[in-house]
Amino acid sequence: MRKLSSHIITDRNSIDPLLLPYAGMKKDELLLFCKRPFWVRSRIALLIAILSIWLFLFSNAITSVVHKKTCDADKWWKHSIIYEVYPRSFKDSNGDGVGDLKGIISKLDYFTYLGIDAIWLTPVYKSPMKDFGYDIANFVDIDPLFGDLDNFKDLVTEAHNRDFKIIMDFVPNHTSREHNWFNLSCQEIEPYTDYYVWKNGKLMKDGKIGPPNNWLSQFGGSAWTWNSQRSQFYYHAFLKEQPDLNYENPKVLEEMKNVLRFWLDLGVDGFRIDAVSNLHEDLRYLDEPTNDEGSISASKDEFNYLKHIYVLHQPKTITTIAEFVKVIRSYENVPSTIKAIMIEDYDKAQNLMVYFDESGADFPFNFDFVGADAKHLGGFGTMKLVDSWMKYMTAPTKSVAVANRHAPEGNDVKSNYSSRSSQIIDYSKRWPNWVTSNHDRHRFATRFGENMTDVFHMLILLLPGTPTVYYGDELGMTNIDVPPFTQTQDSFALNMGPERYKLYTRDPERSPMQWDSTPNAGFTTSNSPWLPVNPDYVKKNFQTEKDDKMSHLNIFRTLVKLRREKEFRNIYISYGAITKNIFSFVRKNAEGDKGYFIILNLGREPDYYPLEAHPSGLTPFGKPLKVLLTTPNNHSNGAISIGNQINMFQSTQSIQTKNFKGKDIKMIETLKDKKPAGQLGEKTEKDIELDHGLTTKRNLSTSLNNIDNNVDVYKGPWLESGQGLVLAWGSPLPDIL
Ligand code: GLC
Repeated sequence: MRKLSSHIITDRNSIDPLLLPYAGMKKDELLLFCKRPFWVRSRIALLIAILSIWLFLFSNAITSVVHKKTCDADKWWKHSIIYEVYPRSFKDSNGDGVGDLKGIISKLDYFTYLGIDAIWLTPVYKSPMKDFGYDIANFVDIDPLFGDLDNFKDLVTEAHNRDFKIIMDFVPNHTSREHNWFNLSCQEIEPYTDYYVWKNGKLMKDGKIGPPNNWLSQFGGSAWTWNSQRSQFYYHAFLKEQPDLNYENPKVLEEMKNVLRFWLDLGVDGFRIDAVSNLHEDLRYLDEPTNDEGSISASKDEFNYLKHIYVLHQPKTITTIAEFVKVIRSYENVPSTIKAIMIEDYDKAQNLMVYFDESGADFPFNFDFVGADAKHLGGFGTMKLVDSWMKYMTAPTKSVAVANRHAPEGNDVKSNYSSRSSQIIDYSKRWPNWVTSNHDRHRFATRFGENMTDVFHMLILLLPGTPTVYYGDELGMTNIDVPPFTQTQDSFALNMGPERYKLYTRDPERSPMQWDSTPNAGFTTSNSPWLPVNPDYVKKNFQTEKDDKMSHLNIFRTLVKLRREKEFRNIYISYGAITKNIFSFVRKNAEGDKGYFIILNLGREPDYYPLEAHPSGLTPFGKPLKVLLTTPNNHSNGAISIGNQINMFQSTQSIQTKNFKGKDIKMIETLKDKKPAGQLGEKTEKDIELDHGLTTKRNLSTSLNNIDNNVDVYKGPWLESGQGLVLAWGSPLPDIL
């Protein structure tokens, strides 16, 4: 057009045939032409089209920036603590002995007090309660025992008003036998005929019809139950009252996606996906081989008797989860609608990584500590458990080990520090998490000892990653005694019979929350709570612990505050076992000028942190660290107290006997200034006095003002079994107490 408007076109052969009608026109004629409505409209249309394309590209760019941001560092669950509420046991509002939704709502202030911002509710759906809610008769309704949908909506609203998140339990593997789908499937009414895993039986030698194969239920006995209506067997990975859904049927997947949509529309903030390893079965339905691994001594009807190559972790599992994840993610638009997706699968860390990498879920629970007991812990045991998870968080996996140092006589010292720093870790893909207890495994305070409560909270709340805390663990709640078989509630245990039920029962870890010292711990006004309250509630409860500054509860709250500091939000971690009892780690800022050194005695005997094994560069050279927090301790010869200064000098040292003021004393010389390794600093007596004067009370006894031949020289901070210390350097230090 520009060409046309500036020239008179004379050569008709040289121009575009489309423009022929305008050839030979003069400029003003052409201008007149341009004003014709057709051309005006065309120009406006073109302008609108260009503007729309530009707007589209611009908004896409903005969305992807926002999305990227919300996908990575800003995801709320990365810095939250997931608090597991087992609704039956949390708070009963109507005096029937079973906890309910109104009870939970009445305790929302408790979460604020704790500093908790994400609550995971185990199932509250309509259920005959054979597996206490994991047997669901209606996925989109609340069981009357817990309340109704309005109560649930109130819970979500109230929680959101307080900035808490509500995470639901999603149970895709099975329904209750009382679900209408099962009823219709038994009658072979379409489209429900193939909603479950139905198989014909096998003719046995005795002429009877037996189950299609040898598959076992996780709760004991055959995984197949005969249905006389259909004259077929149905498969159930758990109780016979929990028939497995058939994920070979695409309609089942669609149904379950709609279940997710129902709860997402009500505003829930995420899901814990239950029993995912059971979702698919091998379609050849072959017998599984027996489990000859290690020392498995299960009897023939116990799940572990077989090696589960056909019923667990089938290849389609990840694809099915990815389908669920896609639905959940479609509800994420802005940071406040980001969802948390957690996977329940008990497997080795290396096998779980696929959930991070391929399912789209946020994390598979790390159950390593849930399966451990006191004999697995101590320094080296904890190191193993932490490292076996952390090494998979890195991509690529890389650890920087510090060479072993000499062990002092009589102690088993091994420094095996690993540094996992920003250069070698891509946490955006795999984010660590730590679980210590849940409704299926005994409470950690029972497995490790109640004196380990605080030290364990120091571990899981201060390591990088998302901790999951089981209700009441913050109070140091322990299991109740196993109730007699006749009073047993857990169907898994009942299924195993009176001889073996004690090995399997999950009742002990599900006892009611201990709120106060009134009857039944303030959990219910009923005289018969569904499970007995732990008799220790009289002393161990929220009310009494609230008033004690050094209670489990208050140490927990202090740690919750501390983990909000930015040094705990970054990705730097350096950790190691220094002795068979002591595990320690450092969290610090990128510059290293502010940080925290956490020393934990997770062993069964008192021990000291041997300075001679302290890795160089782990904490600042030559400066004492401040004791920011210690768990309560009863050292007879001098406790470490908050506010003390502790020397963690990198120690090129020699132990010498010196004569001072007429007495022989053993003495460690510490190289305080940066001299080449191996070269001892020349010290004056004043220097030595200073070195030791900076130490804790116990160590003060070694200071030169208090010479005693029988007292050791300062070897490092001394910790009782179950004692933990948080030391800090840099400023400003947080006011956490
Ligand atoms: C999960 C639940 C457990 C339940 C099982 C069967 O493992 O945590 O409590 O019994 O699934 O639904």
